[in-house]
Parts: sequence; structure tokens; C-alpha cells
Amino acid sequence: MATPQTRGTRDVLQTAVCESLGIPYPIFGFSHSMEVTAAITNAGGFGVYGATRDMPDVISTRLAEIRSRVGDRPFGVDLLLPLGMADKNDWAAAEAKLPEAQKAFVRHLKEKYDVPDATGKSFFSSVVRSNELFEAQADAVLESDVDLFASAIGTPAHIIERAKEKGKVTLSLVGAPKHVAYAKAAGVDLIVAQGYDAGGHTGPIGTLSLVPQIVDAAGETPVLAAGGIADGRQVAASLAMGAQGVWLGTVWLTTEEHRLNKHILAKLLRAGSADTVLTRSHSGKTCRVVRTAWTEEWEAEGAPKPLKMPYQQVLIGELLTSVMEHEIEPLMYEGAGQGVAWCNEVSTVGQVIERLVTETREALAALR
Ligand SMILES: Cc1cc2nc3c(=O)[nH]c(=O)nc-3n(C[C@H](O)[C@H](O)[C@H](O)COP(=O)(O)O)c2cc1C
Repeated sequence: MATPQTRGTRDVLQTAVCESLGIPYPIFGFSHSMEVTAAITNAGGFGVYGATRDMPDVISTRLAEIRSRVGDRPFGVDLLLPLGMADKNDWAAAEAKLPEAQKAFVRHLKEKYDVPDATGKSFFSSVVRSNELFEAQADAVLESDVDLFASAIGTPAHIIERAKEKGKVTLSLVGAPKHVAYAKAAGVDLIVAQGYDAGGHTGPIGTLSLVPQIVDAAGETPVLAAGGIADGRQVAASLAMGAQGVWLGTVWLTTEEHRLNKHILAKLLRAGSADTVLTRSHSGKTCRVVRTAWTEEWEAEGAPKPLKMPYQQVLIGELLTSVMEHEIEPLMYEGAGQGVAWCNEVSTVGQVIERLVTETREALAALR
């Protein structure tokens, strides 16, 4: 592993956030994989487990498992907490609201790609993103010994307040300067400025334009840069823009620890930045994913408009579950950002962190 630079001068990678969290490198990693999350923390970064697709009992078990792998080192958990969702996790009630044109289109895709029925249910085919779910997920997080709680697509002040009472470090992901006021009013300790280049749900402002604006608006609150970052030169640029660290998602998908499905892995390994696309077809909100027949079908002339969150997921949940179970290759996709251009081979999480640290130091040295 790369070692922190010493020689009597303050290591530029040891930002104030690193000092307060007790981590060697200002590299935060978001992942839906427990293995990746633990590996990021164990390699000197800060792993954050994405628990939005987990029911509360699963969240408790997974956070305990990650803790057993990282010991006293810190790690976090992330939930998507959008406003304006249904109150109850009531699948039948949500299903009853689906329009016929969109249902017919999903039936057409199932026939066209010859997708067999799924043999069981998944999160996507059984759970409605609803306030009831969010409260139960937050309860599970707050009862755990996780060190940091991250909230995305929304920053509900009452949950942030409870997290702070439990001694958690709190963080909010934002995609526009106007979101900073909400995050600060909720009292978060850290803000992630996530730009357009990012994988997953993202807004319209590019990372290079967004980060300095968020740094200015955030004042004393430290900012992490996110969106398209996969190379040390971008980490150095993020520090130069006033961020105290970086928050990466896409780069972990092609690590050994992630064990991504082989078809999706192959798509990501050969994808360049222009092979990702913003689509509403995954969740109803703009989400960057690798372009596949799935995204093309929803973009095609005559395709209906995707529904709003949470209804798009209710609409496609069963088909998506079948597509993944039966590995219907053309329709399989994954969230991925423009930094996928650097994901050209499978490596370990430790190797990714070591590469980023070395490249960052080289980029900073080249400026002197
Ligand atoms: C496959 C995938 C799933 C994601 N899911 C979530 C999520 O559930 N919650 C969240 O806050 N961010 C999610 N993100 C966004 C990441 O937190 C992060 O901001 C983003 O990946 C940074 O940009 P990058 O992908 O270019 O590194 C996801 C990203 C990817 C690639």
C-alpha cells in the first residue's frame, strides 16, 4: 500500500477531514457491495455501504458484517431519501396507478427479448420507495454502530438530527448550489458535491463547474468532490478546487471484490465516457447508466415516457428482476459514470486506492 508522505512537511493528502475521521487518504468510496465497502476502509479510504435496496433487517446484518471486517476503522452507510414518495410501502396500491401505455411497453419488451418469468421476488419487484420504508431503514442504520450516515436525493432534517444524537457523522450528497442551504439547515457535517459525470442519480451540472460553487456555498462545512473521478489527476484537481476529499462510485464496480455479473462487467470494461447515458428509465429520476438495449429501447421513437419515482420501479421491477435472473444480456445494465473510461481491467480495491494515491502525488508534484 502507498504510504503517507512524511519528510517533516504536512502531507497534502492528510486533509482536515482525514484528520477528523482518522483515515490515511481522503478517498471515500460508495458501493452496494459489503466486500468493497470493507476493502475501501481497510485500504486506508472510507467505505460507505449503499443500503437503499435493503430491507431494515438486512441492513442490520450487513452493517454488523462490515464492522466485523473493518474492526475499529470507520465506515459509513448511505440511504436514498427522496421527498414526495408514497406514504406506505403498498405494492398493490402503487401498481393500480400504472398507466396502460407504459404497462403495454414493458410487456412488449418482455416478448421482444423473450424474457422468462422470474422465479422469485427481489427488492425491485416487491418494495415501493415510500416514507414507511425510509423510516424503517433509518431506524436500522441509527441502531447500528456505523460511524457515518449519508443521505442522498434528499436531506430529511429529522433523520439527520437523530443521526447526530446517536453520534454519527452526517453527510448529504448534493448536485446543485441551491441544495447546500437545505443540507446546512439540516446540520450535516460533510457535503458531497456530485456532478453530472457521476454514475447513478445525478443532476445537470458538470463536476468541474459544481465543486467550486459548492465549496463557496458550504462555507465551513467540508466538501468532497464526486462525479467522473477515477484518476489521481482528478483527485489533485478536486483538492485544488477546495474539496477536502473525493467520493467515488464507478471505479469500484470493476474490482475483484465487487464480483459484478460477467455480462455487465464486460460492458463496463469496454465502455468509454461516451458510452454512459442519463436515463429516467431506471427509477423515474435522471440516473447515469451504461448504455444498453434497455436505455435505447426507452429512448426509441414511440416509446412511452418513463414514470415518476417511485412508479417507474414498480412498473419495471418484475421485468428487471427476470432480466437479471435469466441474464438477458442486451437488457442488463448498471449505473456507471463517465470515469468508466478508466475501468479497463479488473483489479483489487487496494490496487485502485494505491494507484489513486500515487497518481495524485505525481500530479501535485508536477505542479511544483
Ligand atoms: C452503480 C451505482 C449505484 C449508485 N447508487 C447510489 C445510491 O444508492 N445512493 C447514493 O447516494 N449514490 C449512489 N450512487 C452515486 C455514488 O454515491 C457517487 O456519488 C457516484 O458514483 C460518484 O460518481 P462516479 O460514479 O463517477 O464515481 C451510485 C453510483 C453507482 C455507480
